[in-house]
Amino acid sequence: MRREPLPLDKIRARHHALHQQIRALEQLLEQREEPDEARVREALVLFEGFEPMLEEHFAVEERGGYFSDVLKVAPRFTRWATRLERNHGDFRARLQRLLELAHNAVDAPDKWSKVISGVAEFLQKLKEHEAEENDLVRAAFMDDLAPGD
Ligand SMILES: [Fe+2]
Ligand SMILES: [Fe+2]
Repeated sequence: MRREPLPLDKIRARHHALHQQIRALEQLLEQREEPDEARVREALVLFEGFEPMLEEHFAVEERGGYFSDVLKVAPRFTRWATRLERNHGDFRARLQRLLELAHNAVDAPDKWSKVISGVAEFLQKLKEHEAEENDLVRAAFMDDLAPGD
């Protein structure tokens, strides 16, 4: 009997951890009251802390955290996996731009709404990326675990 969905659990756990960070940021952004400078600074600190975490998340995936696990069991998904992996570069560049924008906006309340919508859009795209990775992993491992395999 096969007892191997371990890589899948690892991937799920990593995605769950990242998702919690995303939620924390979103909750901060969703607060309805007018933002004041203290809250903007708090958001910036949280957002700055998010960067190394995301970088680590991407780096682990690229080092073979799941791409290689997926491709080992389902090499036919190579193109899908490669495309997702390449998206990391866009996210990195976008995040750098957003961080710069956020830094420059701390003392400029007229720019806050632009930063907030930029971060919200970034998080939305990132969630879509993560969801697609989960789909890929699920497809790869479901096929692998299908009867007759
Ligand atoms: Fe990824
Ligand atoms: Fe991921």
